[in-house]
Amino acid sequence: MRTPIIAGNWKMFKTVPEATDFIQEIKGKAEVEGVESVICAPFTNLPALVEAVKGTSIKIGAQNLHFAEDGAYTGEISGRMLKDLGVDYVIIGHSERRQYFAETDETVNKKVHAAFRNDLTPIVCVGEKLEEREAGQTKEVCKVQTEAAFAGLAKDQATKVVVAYEPIWAIGTGKSSTAQDANEVIAYIRTLITELYDESTANVVRIQYGGSVKPENVTEYMGQSDIDGALVGGASLQPASYIALVEGAK
Ligand code: G3H
Repeated sequence: MRTPIIAGNWKMFKTVPEATDFIQEIKGKAEVEGVESVICAPFTNLPALVEAVKGTSIKIGAQNLHFAEDGAYTGEISGRMLKDLGVDYVIIGHSERRQYFAETDETVNKKVHAAFRNDLTPIVCVGEKLEEREAGQTKEVCKVQTEAAFAGLAKDQATKVVVAYEPIWAIGTGKSSTAQDANEVIAYIRTLITELYDESTANVVRIQYGGSVKPENVTEYMGQSDIDGALVGGASLQPASYIALVEGAK
């Protein structure tokens, strides 16, 4: 019922030639029927990548946007600019942006609205820090972040949001959440969406797991009842590994 979605988050990696070479290598391979494949790249790569994926089923995403359409915001990029390039997705509220760039629940929500104004699909990241997990606050943290992200969205917009549950302690550490634990939190996030909207809305929202996902463990995550895909950092940087992730999501 929900189309699985693998999204590679390249973070601050790859020059334009490196990015376009990558697409040449994955064309026809990281394209599996019934699985959506999205590469979220640095801003500098986006025009070349949009061009490189033409004629393929691979989609391109950005890793951030500003919530205004334009204005005196030095160094920022708006949703209007991303749409103009032909970008389809945008990651919002990644924990690295919350941690290093003062992203808050409020700015995340404004950015989600900006994404919809510009017909971009938001991939909204939520997840707890290690100390929050150890204090038993995982669900509370996810509740606050999820409710804030969806605030003011109409039902038809809510159905299009992709949520990425990323426990922060599992990002880039090699320490992944067990598939069962991740599924439990993701199922909880789905109940939050039921409470905010209704069951039919919650049943179509796609929720990914992120945090040290690799070809060796992707199938286990995908086998869980509520996990609809993965947001992958490190393992999305090599073509062979990315292809294996998309194949593993079938
Ligand atoms: O956006 C992706 C996540 O931060 C996960 O990164 O796969 O390198 O752990 P990772």
